[in-house]
Amino acid sequence: MDFDRAVKIAPSILSADFADFGKEIEAVEAQGCDWVHVDIMDGHFVPNLTFGPALCAAIRKHIKTVMDVHLMISPADAYIQAYANAGADVITTHIEAGPHSHRTMQAIRSAGCKAGIALNPATPAASIEYLLDMVDLVCVMTVNPGFGGQKFIHSQIEKVRNLRAMIGDRPIHIEIDGGVTPETAPLVVAAGADVLVAGSGVFKGGSVENSAVYGNNISAIRAAAGV
Ligand code: DX5
Ligand code: ZN
Repeated sequence: MDFDRAVKIAPSILSADFADFGKEIEAVEAQGCDWVHVDIMDGHFVPNLTFGPALCAAIRKHIKTVMDVHLMISPADAYIQAYANAGADVITTHIEAGPHSHRTMQAIRSAGCKAGIALNPATPAASIEYLLDMVDLVCVMTVNPGFGGQKFIHSQIEKVRNLRAMIGDRPIHIEIDGGVTPETAPLVVAAGADVLVAGSGVFKGGSVENSAVYGNNISAIRAAAGV
């Protein structure tokens, strides 16, 4: 995976048809998305459950772009190798998920993946200051993790701006996760974000049979953000 700061749209399959992930992924990729975002929830770190490494391995062969795995689980370390084996390109864990994020980032890179660290809305940007030389991506949660379709939390725009300044020239993506729409995308892009995760914002109104809607939703986000 080469690094660049071009704005990328990463549909979250949390908003796709759970009975048809393979076709849903092929549809959003055909409609022009850049990455595919996979939300893993454990019913403990967040109040919702999704799926695990076996499902990730099964859908991997349908992903031609980048498999971006967001672990909303605690503890996370014991599962990193399993998600790497499942074919993750990026593995992101939460700074709030345990006391040893420094070790976790090392473990993700040692497993051959890009390392991401996610921050919940209440967590300050400064909490990851001493991780910046070990991460490839910072994920700013613009909703409280656990569910799709929630309202964007505007206070996080300032956090993105602060992180962008902290990152400087380092090759680190800033990813936004939650509530991305044509209304909110320009705000986070202007603040310095380059990967926009969008679940309901991409999948709403469409289906595998009517996938042009996915393309229209992706284009509307890009156009609003001016990218
Ligand atoms: C929330 C997940 C998000 C979610 C985003 O816990 O991490 O990736 O799917 O969904 P929308 O775009 O609908 O807010
Ligand atoms: Zn996510």
